[in-house]
Amino acid sequence: MLKFDFTYTLAENVQGGLDTAEIDSYSAKVEEFLKRLDENKPGFVNAVLTRKWIDSVNELSDFIFTFDNLVVLGIGGSALGNIAIQNALRPANWNSLSVDERNGYLRIFVVDNVDPDYLSSVLDCVDPKTTLFNIISKSGTTAEPMANYLIVRGILESYGLDPKEHLIFTTDPEKGVLRRLGRAEGIRMLEIPPDVGGRFSVLTPVGLLSAKAAGVDIEELIIGAKDAYEKTINSSLWENPAALIAVTHYLHYLKKRNISVMMAYSNRLYYLADWYRQLWAESLGKMYDNDGNKVHVGQTPVKALGAVDQHSQVQLYNEGPDDKIITFLRTEQFDREIIIPKIHESEPELAYLGGKKLSTLLNSEQLGTQLALAKHGRPSITVTFPKIDEYHIGQFIMYYELATVIAGHLFNINPYDQPGVELGKKITYALMGREGFEEYNYSDSAQKRVEVE
Ligand code: PA5
Repeated sequence: MLKFDFTYTLAENVQGGLDTAEIDSYSAKVEEFLKRLDENKPGFVNAVLTRKWIDSVNELSDFIFTFDNLVVLGIGGSALGNIAIQNALRPANWNSLSVDERNGYLRIFVVDNVDPDYLSSVLDCVDPKTTLFNIISKSGTTAEPMANYLIVRGILESYGLDPKEHLIFTTDPEKGVLRRLGRAEGIRMLEIPPDVGGRFSVLTPVGLLSAKAAGVDIEELIIGAKDAYEKTINSSLWENPAALIAVTHYLHYLKKRNISVMMAYSNRLYYLADWYRQLWAESLGKMYDNDGNKVHVGQTPVKALGAVDQHSQVQLYNEGPDDKIITFLRTEQFDREIIIPKIHESEPELAYLGGKKLSTLLNSEQLGTQLALAKHGRPSITVTFPKIDEYHIGQFIMYYELATVIAGHLFNINPYDQPGVELGKKITYALMGREGFEEYNYSDSAQKRVEVE
């Protein structure tokens, strides 16, 4: 199992840390919440307790593996999990490998923006004739994937290719324009369970299709997630990673630590921090609590990469405002190892490195940073991967999804909605001339402008 270390959240080890009694005082509340959650499981939990979603992806195997490239078009929860899995479980040079080096699995591109330079550069890399496009949008109303879909469809048509032989729609089982078009045109489709929100959907067909296409063992992802769920439901607070993540973050928030940094000491784990950033921000950043009070709660998630950000951010973390709780991600085992050569042995600045593993340097830097933070009174948590594989990535996803809903309960907010993103969408529709949204054209609403060149 993943290992979690909460030592440096405690007052004994960090000035301004938590008393064990403070944490203890939440055990009944959390255990009661988890009991109810198990009796009435949320959609993202049910999604890993069935074979339905894995089977629906497996059924498309024959079709998927006729292609060289998969281009995913989605945004937010319809993209970040795919990117995280791809980066964690496939090497950084995956898309540069030959088809044989990839064992026949597909190159994967996830386009989650409407930047024309970016989209063009991805499209330059793929031949439409050998490319499958997976359009993911639960609602089917999101401007970004819909614009990118229209562009891709236009390209397929301009090549004289049959769109339905190059597209898979992943969307709501009943609602939305993708479902409508897919039905009308016989396009292959995958379902997103209606009760699973975007940022909780990575272990549904949203994330499973691109993982499968890259040769990731999707069964193991789900087994990892299931084991993390079982552990969460059956453990008391002090044995319960998800519950302790939630309680320690909540209590540090009450102590004015309103920033949650996730700092990965592994390039492969870095994109999990990006996935977490959305999960924590969109789920917990809310104006109203469940009783209708205006509360404006939320903890700003920040991602960082070790050792890189030691030379960029850590000065601030140690000496700047005491407003952060930091989570370190590290791995005990890297897939590849490099021994630093013994060269220049008479130079003390270099000699101590010679003969050491590069991974030992990275993990020592992580511990060094954590201990220095503790000395400065800055709390931190460590999540250790025994190795970076499907099983542990599945666990990580489930633990953090559960931690998020437990934290939602502690904050007394609804972690599943995102009303704060709606207005911006409506204004964009108005700016783009979408019928019915004229009242949201606020472009001239500034009382006073300051514009400089
Ligand atoms: O978590 C969420 O609900 C959002 O981030 C959505 O995933 C994102 O807005 C994309 O929505 P959709 O899949 O409907 O296009």
